[in-house]
Amino acid sequence: MITARKTFLPFALPLISEKAIEEVAAVLRSGWITAGPKVKEFEEEFARYCGADFALAMNSATAGLHLALESIGLCSEDAVLVPAVTFTATAETVCYFGAEPILTDVDPIYNLMTVETLKETIERECVFSKGNLVHKKTGKTVRALMPVHLAGAVCDMDALNSLAREYHLYVIEDSAHAFPATHKGRKIGTHGDFTVFSFYATKGITTGEGGMVTTRHAHFAERMKLMRLHGINRETYGRPGWYYEVVSPGFKYNMNDIAAAIGIVQLSEAEDLWRRRIEIADIYRSEFAQLPFLHLPLPAKDGDHSWHLFRVEVDTVQERMNRDILSAELHKRNIGSSLHFIPLYEHPFYQRFGFDRKNYPNADAMYKKTLSLPLFAGMTDSDIEDVVTAVKGIFSDL
Ligand SMILES: Cc1ncc(COP(=O)(O)O)c(C=O)c1O
Repeated sequence: MITARKTFLPFALPLISEKAIEEVAAVLRSGWITAGPKVKEFEEEFARYCGADFALAMNSATAGLHLALESIGLCSEDAVLVPAVTFTATAETVCYFGAEPILTDVDPIYNLMTVETLKETIERECVFSKGNLVHKKTGKTVRALMPVHLAGAVCDMDALNSLAREYHLYVIEDSAHAFPATHKGRKIGTHGDFTVFSFYATKGITTGEGGMVTTRHAHFAERMKLMRLHGINRETYGRPGWYYEVVSPGFKYNMNDIAAAIGIVQLSEAEDLWRRRIEIADIYRSEFAQLPFLHLPLPAKDGDHSWHLFRVEVDTVQERMNRDILSAELHKRNIGSSLHFIPLYEHPFYQRFGFDRKNYPNADAMYKKTLSLPLFAGMTDSDIEDVVTAVKGIFSDL
């Protein structure tokens, strides 16, 4: 007999405090609901929190990735190194320019881009000629690499930065999962040339939809500021008079004050939200430590994991157990789970680039085994207990 929860427990939910709701109401009553003082305040607070020189709020991380690439002048003659295990946003923004995404494999433990996976890809697919890294198949110039801090474990940024310097590449960190992780003694947000955060509903902090780009480069910050609002050379809020000039065909990527009001409160609560995530990850790690056939995520190597996701790996045990069985059994008990991620080369769109699955043995192995269990700051003790009981029960029947 299976005991199921009365209500469905999704694998992620946002936790919005009354304070955030009050702040949103105040913005709604203020008469200024688009990009204005709240966005500015959020950017300043966020930059301070990360220790970043510049922070630019966007309406999504995808917009932030797009504008980071735009600001380095990416064009259709270029290519960018992207890990095979990520959400489509990382690579799709490269494709916006007609540029070539070159997929790297990931390490077998954290499923991250590493110097080893990069070197392997570069050796196989590129030549270094006249100071440029060139993609052999297309003749395109590799301009950047985009490490993804999957689940909230940060890539080895010193190693990636030094490889990037060697090949004259920009480093654009996809940090959608990593807020507010630390790495080598400091907060995420200052390691690469750009760090791009997501405030999507399920992330470490949320604004409903939203994103932020941090950078130390003043000229790139200026360019992103321009391009997030139609290429108009003056911001709307506080503009003296009606005059402005359009100096570039920009985008409509600005955050609004309603979202920023949520963001400011979420940021002030970030450490508490994070502490709860760490607590849940610790409980899972200790409760599931002895289960056979279930492999648990490790803490981050050079800092503190954000625990955006709790990704386990499930062994196949004849017909009795595998990742899909675990997911289905959890579902029978009214518990959600998810998969992060289907490797990009598996998707119909990315197949046009001719990726060969055999070049991605670690991504391929991950894809067969991985599953994300529920983990979010708003989980109650009894939600956690339900997951623990369910997982232990499922494995005890083996
Ligand atoms: C790794 C990764 N990068 C980028 C994004 C895009 O974030 P957003 O929805 O804020 O555009 C996501 C979204 O979940 C993601 O998981």
